[in-house]
Amino acid sequence: MAIQLGTVAPDFEADTTMGRVKFHEWIGNQWAILFSHPKDFTPVCTTELGTAAKLKGEFDKRNCKMIAISVDDVGSHKGWIGDIEDTQKTTMNFPIIGDPQKTVSNLYGMIHPEANDTLTVRSVFFIDPNKKVRAMITYPASTGRNFAELLRVIDSLQLTDHHKVATPANWKDGDDCVIVPAISDDQAKSLFPKGWKALRPYLRMTPQPNK
Ligand code: BEZ
Repeated sequence: MAIQLGTVAPDFEADTTMGRVKFHEWIGNQWAILFSHPKDFTPVCTTELGTAAKLKGEFDKRNCKMIAISVDDVGSHKGWIGDIEDTQKTTMNFPIIGDPQKTVSNLYGMIHPEANDTLTVRSVFFIDPNKKVRAMITYPASTGRNFAELLRVIDSLQLTDHHKVATPANWKDGDDCVIVPAISDDQAKSLFPKGWKALRPYLRMTPQPNK
């Protein structure tokens, strides 16, 4: 069955560059992103993994673990890591899953046959501490991902889990938010003591509540 928002992320056990991982156990009570790479020793993937490694501190601040996957085996990944570290001037600091049988790639629907029937597309699954899939993005092999956007999505998910707001277009941490339509003005008075600006009755902008 296709993975949809709100469903439990499929569990699996696999070899990674940092040892054997039981996925749900590995996530523990943290957030996680699982992101796929079409193949080892490919240029865009090399830049993505280097970028992700440099941003690990930012993911840590958000209590979010990272794990990558590529359809080659762990031995190949380990060779590739040397290139990533050398060319991207960083140290790989999170695991890459070996998936030569494409077990995990198929479990997560990462192979899109009309794009390529053997390699994965660039999928990202955002998974919460309850192991629920909370967001997904999918890019083709030719488009490298924006890791600042991944952090922004995590910020939005974590904020909106705790406050009755949604985050508008191009929002980033610290910007004004919208009050969710289900909240009446009366309820909003106690929930948003900093007040709000009603551009329309359904479009109420309020300062980010946790700032
Ligand atoms: C890359 O990561 O550079 C890449 C991988 C597969 C196809 C095209 C580009």
